[in-house]
Amino acid sequence: MEEGFFVDDCVAFMSRMDEKSIDLTVTSPPYDNLRNYKGYSFDFENIAKHLYRVTKEGGVVVWVVGDKINGGRTLTSFRQGLFFQDMGFLMHDVMIYQKKNTPFMRSNAYTNCYEFMFVLSRGKPNTFNPLKVETVRHGMEMLTHNKGADGVNKKVLKELKKEKTRTNIWPYAVGYGGTTTDKIAFDHPAVFPEKLAEDHILSWTNPGDLVFDPMCGSGTTGKMALKHNRRFIGVDISKAYVAIAKERVFGGQIPMAGVV
Ligand SMILES: C[S@@+](CC[C@H](N)C(=O)[O-])C[C@H]1O[C@@H](n2cnc3c(N)ncnc32)[C@H](O)[C@@H]1O
Repeated sequence: MEEGFFVDDCVAFMSRMDEKSIDLTVTSPPYDNLRNYKGYSFDFENIAKHLYRVTKEGGVVVWVVGDKINGGRTLTSFRQGLFFQDMGFLMHDVMIYQKKNTPFMRSNAYTNCYEFMFVLSRGKPNTFNPLKVETVRHGMEMLTHNKGADGVNKKVLKELKKEKTRTNIWPYAVGYGGTTTDKIAFDHPAVFPEKLAEDHILSWTNPGDLVFDPMCGSGTTGKMALKHNRRFIGVDISKAYVAIAKERVFGGQIPMAGVV
């Protein structure tokens, strides 16, 4: 299968892809037609079925999704999550993409500042490289040890760990400088943060693995996959968005061998 960016309907494209060929998909669908993507159609059920078919055993799909809020929440995201489960994916985790700024204000409810990141896997994930954060307290400290029946605190000098595994709520700044500093990316209406794609790529794959985005928009997942020496296939139905992705990722440069 050729790698690089392609203009196509992702269902048609995936139907030509090899079965069980993808290590990781990081993608974000159009949410309830929340934004106008030049009027292209979105066939969720067929996309989900094909994603399952092309994902390797132990491969992962990260599905970044929000609901339209129009009076109340549509809960389309929940329906999609249940459909993914019904077709055989394991809902390995439901993570939160928290937006640190520009949250969506509501007059009669709390301000919405998140989207879901469904981490779906075909069986148990093959790879998990946990990302770490620095702990607030670290170094040597006197810590309580073996409090016995006499109630006396026996303290011993112990080392607190310097870092711990992150939680599953990932906060990112959005907008210029947060999402990306590539001005051209903002010609697309719904770019997700480069760091979000990067963090999933580092967590669920190793160098040389094949990363996929069937609705690649401005090319964020591809940019981060290639930066970290993963292979990449990206598809978008819009020629204009694929042009943005190619310009963003390759600029005036000649693509690497085998990448179009
Ligand atoms: C939320 S955007 C993805 C944005 C992307 N994650 C980024 O960072 O730029 C969804 C994309 O899905 C594309 N799309 C919609 N229907 C599609 C289809 N049937 N096949 C391929 N792409 C499609 C739209 O053109 C749009 O660019």
